Amino acid sequence: MKDKLQSIIDQNRKWTNCGQVASYIPELAKADPNILGIAINDINDKAVQAGDYNYYFTIQSIVKVIILICLLIDGGEDKIFDKVGMEPSSEPFNSIPKLERTESGKPLNPFINAGAIACTDAVLGKNCKEKYERIVAMLKKLSNNQNLKINDAVYKSEKLTGQTNRAIAHYLKGAGLIDNSVEDVLDVYFKLCSVEMVVKDIAKIASVIANGGIAPWSQEKIIPTNANKIIKAIMTTCGLYDSSGCFAVRVGMPSKSGVGGGIVSVAPNKMGIAVVGPSLDHHGNSIAGVKVLEELSKSERLSIF
Ligand code: DON
Repeated sequence: MKDKLQSIIDQNRKWTNCGQVASYIPELAKADPNILGIAINDINDKAVQAGDYNYYFTIQSIVKVIILICLLIDGGEDKIFDKVGMEPSSEPFNSIPKLERTESGKPLNPFINAGAIACTDAVLGKNCKEKYERIVAMLKKLSNNQNLKINDAVYKSEKLTGQTNRAIAHYLKGAGLIDNSVEDVLDVYFKLCSVEMVVKDIAKIASVIANGGIAPWSQEKIIPTNANKIIKAIMTTCGLYDSSGCFAVRVGMPSKSGVGGGIVSVAPNKMGIAVVGPSLDHHGNSIAGVKVLEELSKSERLSIF
């Protein structure tokens, strides 16, 4: 499998010349566009990696999956779908206009920025510090890695320049969808987006979801069955924003992307997969990463459809 992965990486590295690294968060513009790496963790906890698998990158929107997991565990289906919808959005991840056009200002789904910010506020914890600790503890548990760090430069860069997210959060506050202070909730969200990982860590997280919510390395049931089902459904329909449909056709695995260049994918009952390639398309998804997943999905018949 390692040779196959390496050959998929080698064949698709040319795509890293297409697209651009994210620059709306100034620190992300320093990323190396030529990077391309992959890790797989299967449901028997067998790990394999190829390409630039030692590259540390910020997980960005991939953390929205973990926020959703916490909220589903803490409050269940009702609590989350009080705050956000479950419909895909045909708009970019940081789009604002649809907030005005939906029922009570509710974000369309938990994976657009508006939805993730509303969900962050609703995670269990008597203040934002506790909410942050709750989500980080879940990240550590799901990745089986207690040594996660925040990329401080990326965190500060987004905190300084994240005015679109501020506008979104103020709108949500006005609509009564955020209880805590806008700055406190955003601080948690920015910090979580700035957690650094390598693809192996993210593949571990995906392997728990692939294994019905059970950690392959300890057999601990971390995610309840119904929550695990909802997560896969939202990843499938909303995980790549306004290119989720195209991704479903070409790759066909529940997935979530981040502007750091990572994509996490779940092959149910088989394996968790993570790729990184910081050069992005205009939707904010890794171009080479999607190509690698497409080829792997075809060769291993991983599409759920
Ligand atoms: O809030 C933001 O804009 C970033 N911290 C995360 C966005 C993101 O990763 C979108 N995914 N492709």
